[in-house]
Amino acid sequence: MENQAPAKKKSVFSGIQPTGVFTLGNYLGAVKNWPQLQDDYRCTYCIVDMHAITVRQDPKQLRQRSLEAYALLLACGVDPQKSNVFIQSHVKTHAELAWVLNCNTSFGQLSRMTQFKDKSQKHPEDINAGLFDYPVLMAADILAYQADLVPVGIDQKQHLELARDIAQRFNTQYGNTFTIPEPYIPQATAKIMSLQEPTKKMSKSDTNVKSFISILDEKDTVIKKFRSAVTDSEACVRYAEGKDGINNLMTIYQAVAGKSFEEIEKDFEGKGYGDFKTAVGEAVADHLAPVRDKWKALMDDKDYLKQSYTDGAQRALAISQRTIDKVYKKVGFIPLG
Ligand code: TRP
Repeated sequence: MENQAPAKKKSVFSGIQPTGVFTLGNYLGAVKNWPQLQDDYRCTYCIVDMHAITVRQDPKQLRQRSLEAYALLLACGVDPQKSNVFIQSHVKTHAELAWVLNCNTSFGQLSRMTQFKDKSQKHPEDINAGLFDYPVLMAADILAYQADLVPVGIDQKQHLELARDIAQRFNTQYGNTFTIPEPYIPQATAKIMSLQEPTKKMSKSDTNVKSFISILDEKDTVIKKFRSAVTDSEACVRYAEGKDGINNLMTIYQAVAGKSFEEIEKDFEGKGYGDFKTAVGEAVADHLAPVRDKWKALMDDKDYLKQSYTDGAQRALAISQRTIDKVYKKVGFIPLG
């Protein structure tokens, strides 16, 4: 294979749920990296509304949030000219592949998924089959595009391992069909913690709004939330075990201001937490301001958004249909036409 044409760019797939505005945690841990991959990889990014309905959603709100999330991806720098950006329910191959994969996934393995256990504890009144099956749909998303690399937060690692297992088992059973995807987890910002309880992950469903930053929060709000962030009583800006609050703020500051921990420690030597929190709040607010402005402009241009997600869905269908055709043939379905 050595002397052939230059290798084809590798492919990247990732998805994000449209369940409310993204937090700073979603942004730094995942979405911020997505535009950076666009030049070196063939990227496909998806708003996973079909995953969202594994917990009850208000239909009107889901529609609104899916559009907002789509616009937010573009506002964060995902470029629909360079990447395929679309909404999951627009592309039928995801559900089709999920069914075939379902028939090749063991019940026992699915029962060990920690996210299923957590979510079914949180929603004991609605433990539906879709919630249990969530990781298989996620595997279908990834495998339909023959993705080499999947940027995700650390909480999705187990699901990705399942996707790899499913792909490997299918390949063994039916002959080589799927690319085995690798996780891409940016270590430094893999987990941004709550500002109020820094041992817990930052979450948009937290009832205490002071615990998370929405990436659409206005400057004053961002600064206020950082000023009330929980820290410790040492009053020394340094990264150390047990200083969860400060460690989290340092991680955030490092990501938005591009400074190393050593630089941060030096800059804030002899200064109190008040100064540090204000600096982090301002840096975050400045970093998010252009995203917010771009998002607002996009939300005012519904025609453009519609055109963009329609194109994205068409391209996504063309790619994933090739996989479905191959899979249907391998499992023994009669081709139509
Ligand atoms: N389960 C992911 C999450 O909640 C979202 C997701 C759905 C996803 N399908 C995907 C992520 C495929 C990566 C690849 O974060």
